[in-house]
Amino acid sequence: MSKGCFITFEGIDGSGKSTQARLLAEALPGSILTREPGGSPGAEEIRRLLVEGDPDRWSAETEILLFTAARRDHLEKTILPALEARKTVISDRFADSTRVYQGATRGDLRDVVDSLHAQMIGREPDLTFIVDMDPDIALTRGLARQSGEDRFEDMGQGFQARLRQGFLDLAQEFPDRCHLIDGNRSIQAIAADILSVAQARI
Ligand code: ADP
Ligand code: TYD
Repeated sequence: MSKGCFITFEGIDGSGKSTQARLLAEALPGSILTREPGGSPGAEEIRRLLVEGDPDRWSAETEILLFTAARRDHLEKTILPALEARKTVISDRFADSTRVYQGATRGDLRDVVDSLHAQMIGREPDLTFIVDMDPDIALTRGLARQSGEDRFEDMGQGFQARLRQGFLDLAQEFPDRCHLIDGNRSIQAIAADILSVAQARI
């Protein structure tokens, strides 16, 4: 078993997860901040294939394979070595994103996601913050960034609403590790809430 604490942030695009992941990392000295898809040199290469280009570039099945390949490299090269060194690892997205985006929202592929996860990843976070947010507000925030990584945002409003419900369902499915966070507050209020839950767990 690894020794550090593994914390993940999940939620729809533009919910404020990256902001909160960064603030938590700043508040926890010695922690490492990472992200998915990406987080290791190989996984960052796979990220570009996933987040850029046409919304129907990949089928949901192909996406599951690419996200899982990226995650496996991220786990081997970044997450597990840091946990072994007793560091707190904070990841902006992890396997719950695949459960919701590919498993629940782009078709009923949850069984495929779960079996691949069991074979290739086999690791859950110790603590997951699900930042909940009105999709209308989140989408405006996300697209306003104009990052050029808008392939998923470009899938539209109905898609974002289904994603939100998918994350709420996940919070009920894994109540021990998942904390639902109301993202419709000031950045500071949300960060204070998250820090107190994290400190209690670490
Ligand atoms: P995500 O990682 O979930 O896509 P980000 O953290 O990148 O979201 O935030 C998206 C945009 O919204 C950024 O411009 C960020 O500054 C802004 N933002 C984040 N949290 C809040 C908040 N609580 N209130 C208002 N704006 C926010
Ligand atoms: P991310 O960079 O976190 O986007 P954002 O900051 O806009 O939330 O993630 C890129 C996109 O990849 C995002 O739209 C969610 C999607 N994604 C999946 O569909 N499945 C996954 O397993 C992961 C990790 C991300």
